[in-house]
Amino acid sequence: MNSTIKNLTNHRSERSYLDKAIPEEVINNIIEAAYRAPTSVNSQQVSVVVTRAQENRNKIAEIAGGQPWIKQAPLFLTFVLDMHKSEQAISAHGGEQLAHESIEALVSGSTDIGIALASAMAAARAEGLGVVPIGGIRRDPEAMIELLALPTLTFPVVGLAIGYVDQPAHLKPRLPMATFRHEEAYRTDGLAEQIEKYNADIQQHWKNIGRNDGDSWSESVGGYYKNIYFPQVLPAVIKQGFGTKK
Ligand SMILES: Cc1cc2nc3c(=O)[nH]c(=O)nc-3n(C[C@H](O)[C@H](O)[C@H](O)COP(=O)(O)O)c2cc1C
Repeated sequence: MNSTIKNLTNHRSERSYLDKAIPEEVINNIIEAAYRAPTSVNSQQVSVVVTRAQENRNKIAEIAGGQPWIKQAPLFLTFVLDMHKSEQAISAHGGEQLAHESIEALVSGSTDIGIALASAMAAARAEGLGVVPIGGIRRDPEAMIELLALPTLTFPVVGLAIGYVDQPAHLKPRLPMATFRHEEAYRTDGLAEQIEKYNADIQQHWKNIGRNDGDSWSESVGGYYKNIYFPQVLPAVIKQGFGTKK
């Protein structure tokens, strides 16, 4: 298997890091990979804030609900949906930006963020580092906005903790491929059986790695999705100047 594909298919979220600095050149390579990612209509509506200071990583760990790996890993990148740059470009030339008033801006911006995040993850792993994406920053977006001094028309969508791995993570099983890959049209038949198969697979996985408290997928995803788990996102998005009604 080609090494790029191996890098991607071997992905796992690492949550145990060594106290070991990452060389500057390696950090530059990771950010360059994200910077070269494509964006919708060449909008370049992504910015990255680099956090290295221990004090600030401690604050982010708390904002994300107390995630110790953010304190441990020496590097944290925040991927910011950024329509501030385009607004400046348009208004400086006598125009008016309206796109940020639409839900489409959040869809296209989040897509672009995801691509940049994936590029940074692949680059970091290719450099021998471990990664874990951190959506937990949206638990308290206002605190992130303040910490990173984000201007209007920007929003911190996701973070990425990066570092040298201490205790490596295990490859986590996925739902069967048949639930993911559809030929020509979406197929719904057999889904219930595939889900039950996965519930058994993931519980076996937890047992194999010595975790006897592991939930089935139905239970774990149900635990999150029975609530609006980050209710502060909507008010913060609106406060930053985005709209959601168009
Ligand atoms: C957008 C996004 C946000 C995530 N947020 C967190 C997070 O805040 N904390 C965490 O420990 N893991 C987080 N994860 C990691 C997921 O829990 C993980 O990808 C999933 O359980 C599958 O495990 P794997 O990545 O090891 O295959 C996030 C993943 C993604 C893609």
